[in-house]
Amino acid sequence: MSKSNIFLVGPMGAGKSTIGRVLAAELNRQFCDTDRVIEDRTGADIPWIFDMEGEAGFREREAAVLSDLACEENLVVATGGGIVLLSENREVMKASGYVCYLTASTDQLVERTSRDKKRPLLQVDNPRKKIIELLEMRDPIYREAADFIINTDKRSPKMVSQEIIRLIEES
Ligand code: S3P
Repeated sequence: MSKSNIFLVGPMGAGKSTIGRVLAAELNRQFCDTDRVIEDRTGADIPWIFDMEGEAGFREREAAVLSDLACEENLVVATGGGIVLLSENREVMKASGYVCYLTASTDQLVERTSRDKKRPLLQVDNPRKKIIELLEMRDPIYREAADFIINTDKRSPKMVSQEIIRLIEES
């Protein structure tokens, strides 16, 4: 397995998919989004998978998709916000590419996810509280997994992707 892939990790609303698409276009690479690959393979959307199989079932599907994508080369991969929870996933990403942690302020995360009904973990009375709780729990794990940490606040997807390219070139 060569280390040629780029994995974008971080919380829901960090901009992984939008930035990933721009980054892939800049680098002339293929873009993949683990959530979309899971949905294509399952033939169902993520809320349905959570309903029928629980979060545990979703995590199994997510790990299987990640390990397949990690066998390919030169991909830009936007991952689901919880992908770092499994240590195997962190190892798979490290072994097959660069891991970029996209951060954003809580206000930005709340704003960017506020109109979304497709994220089961945020269908609660107080999504802001949930975002804060998830971040408190996951931020150390994202940091441990990451080769680079990039703030996305008040920056265009193009600016963020150029920073990622620079960080990889300088590494
Ligand atoms: C999740 C994030 C979602 C999706 C699922 C669970 C999480 O992906 O994988 O709803 O645990 O944070 P995005 O980060 O792309 O929204």
